Amino acid sequence: MKRIAVLTSGGDAPGMNAAVRAVVRTAAGYGQEVVGVRRGFQGLHQGDMRLLGARDVANTIQRGGTILLTARSHTWRSPEGRAQGAAFLREWGVDGLVVIGGDGSFHGAHYLYQEHGINVIGVPGTIDNDLYGTDHTIGYFTAVETALDAVDKLRDTAASHERIFVVEVMGRHAGHIALDVAVAGGAEEVFLPEEEKHVSSVVEIVQQSVSKGKASSIIIVAEGYPGGALGVAAAIEEGTGFDTRVSILGHIQRGGTPVSSDRILASRLGEAAVHGLIEGRTDVMAGRMNGEIVFTPLSETWEKRKDLNRDLYRCAKNLSV
Ligand code: F6P
Repeated sequence: MKRIAVLTSGGDAPGMNAAVRAVVRTAAGYGQEVVGVRRGFQGLHQGDMRLLGARDVANTIQRGGTILLTARSHTWRSPEGRAQGAAFLREWGVDGLVVIGGDGSFHGAHYLYQEHGINVIGVPGTIDNDLYGTDHTIGYFTAVETALDAVDKLRDTAASHERIFVVEVMGRHAGHIALDVAVAGGAEEVFLPEEEKHVSSVVEIVQQSVSKGKASSIIIVAEGYPGGALGVAAAIEEGTGFDTRVSILGHIQRGGTPVSSDRILASRLGEAAVHGLIEGRTDVMAGRMNGEIVFTPLSETWEKRKDLNRDLYRCAKNLSV
């Protein structure tokens, strides 16, 4: 193996730069060149790449976003688009590709391997933490901290006005961010896509908390929960008449300086991805489970479901008395 390419794809996540840096520097240690592809698969399809040396990634470990830029590529969904990208990789003499992203990006990598025999390794980079084969994904820890900081601030105004706040957090179809934020933020209740809890149950929850003497409440809703925060807030107002406010945190959760846990995870997984390619692994994701580096077939990362932390869910319930 002589040349490795690296790209970031899909929604950006804090820590992606630390992963790129780890790929570039690990490869440099083996005397290999790295080609950085800009704008993910969109850029690969257009041949938008350049060589990256160890110094090119200096001063990036602490930066949010991705220096390589990212995109959600439509052209990559067609076999012609992928053939074009594969041709550019061959032209550049690339032997292996590291894809830092989430499940959509891993689908793209998987097809590239299946259709064109290009060796690919995935590095889990998404705030959603929704990939099987790794306990955490890069960006998740920072997103939880960002959302928690917002919840703490909302609590001040909720308490001052004796109001109910319904806060929506990201996570696409998964409730991992919501559950962590609910426990760490001392929320009254949490609504998750993984739970079949009807929205009307919120009325009783709010009435009970008022009868227990609580003057204000924070309710966390995962964006994947049917109806989202607006649906939960409407149910509260209809069922109780209480003054309720909604705060949808949105893309702020994707930004900011990565916390140390994301930088460390990204450094380890970027390094592991290069080792994996050198060892001849392909069509797999490098993840960390129980502190160990593991490689999981890319298709399993989206086919197998990563369950919620059920103990934490129980804990959230027990502590909101
Ligand atoms: O996958 C990361 C994520 O931020 C999800 O939590 C969210 O549903 C989605 O991306 C938003 O995507 P976009 O940036 O394309 O609006």
